Amino acid sequence: MTVRGNRHLGSASWAALVTDVTYAARADVRARSACTLSRSGNVADVMGRDASGSAVLRGALPAGVAVRATDTPLDLEAARSSLLGEEAAAVAGAAPTRVREFATGRACARGALADLGVTPGPVPVGPDRAPRWPPGFVGSITHCAGFWAAAVASTAVLSRLGVDAEVHAPLEPDVADLVIAPGERERVAGLPPGWAVAWDTVLFSAKEAVFKATFPADRVWREAADVAVDLRPDGSFAATSRTPEALPPLIGRWRVTSTLVVTAAYSRPAG
Ligand SMILES: CC(C)(COP(=O)(O)OP(=O)(O)OC[C@H]1O[C@@H](n2cnc3c(N)ncnc32)[C@H](O)[C@@H]1OP(=O)(O)O)[C@@H](O)C(=O)NCCC(=O)NCCS
Repeated sequence: MTVRGNRHLGSASWAALVTDVTYAARADVRARSACTLSRSGNVADVMGRDASGSAVLRGALPAGVAVRATDTPLDLEAARSSLLGEEAAAVAGAAPTRVREFATGRACARGALADLGVTPGPVPVGPDRAPRWPPGFVGSITHCAGFWAAAVASTAVLSRLGVDAEVHAPLEPDVADLVIAPGERERVAGLPPGWAVAWDTVLFSAKEAVFKATFPADRVWREAADVAVDLRPDGSFAATSRTPEALPPLIGRWRVTSTLVVTAAYSRPAG
């Protein structure tokens, strides 16, 4: 799908959002890419090739969060040789596509950690597939066709962090029926009209980001329909629990480009 301005524009803030995600992000992508390259070292060098999705993801996150992203995954040989320590066991016997996806996400994670001054080491797979970050850090990994990324922050900056990226295309109707909660589409319908955004996919991605932000600390398994997401035209979203188990306070952000939906959910440390 393509996200472009059109003559039905009904809101200045809406215009600002879409301009931000489709055009301004492109304008600064070179600067951000140069920044990424200049800070890179070791295995993370391969992550210097920034995609516009990278700028969009950075823009969705607060200062102090390190982001590495690429639009090209490691090839199989590089992927296998980049895995450190127990990481290799996590994808032993996996299909080549999975090995490449996993290793590219780990390389992004190491790059982001290196940006925060952490010596590159394994990012093992924890319970229920959640990455195990070094003590004092929170982070999140995402991958979809054409985009692989990781975001990491010190726990002094964020106490929870989840990011998600999806191909910007409509969900299959049967999937949408499973992940969209009652009332969510109606609230989306209240957003300014005339933009070609795959709203169900944005809602779904926001829920995935919420899951990744909350599960590692809470160990509460929430299905998509257990969470209600309220998208706002300024690119923020609110998430509330539809079950008795409350969600922690989260800040939500959503962005779209012509090819990607990118969302982030995070919390500031208490105090
Ligand atoms: C785990 C899940 C969130 C992954 O999302 P996805 O869009 O399918 O895939 P993405 O590529 O964006 O993310 C995959 C990465 O998420 C991370 N991840 C997986 N399980 C995780 C967990 N339990 N907690 C935190 N992060 C997790 C991993 O880093 C994984 O990549 P890796 O296996 O290569 O390390 C999703 O498959 C899932 O099971 N969701 C549970 C239900 C849900 O979404 N509920 C929403 C309401 S809160």
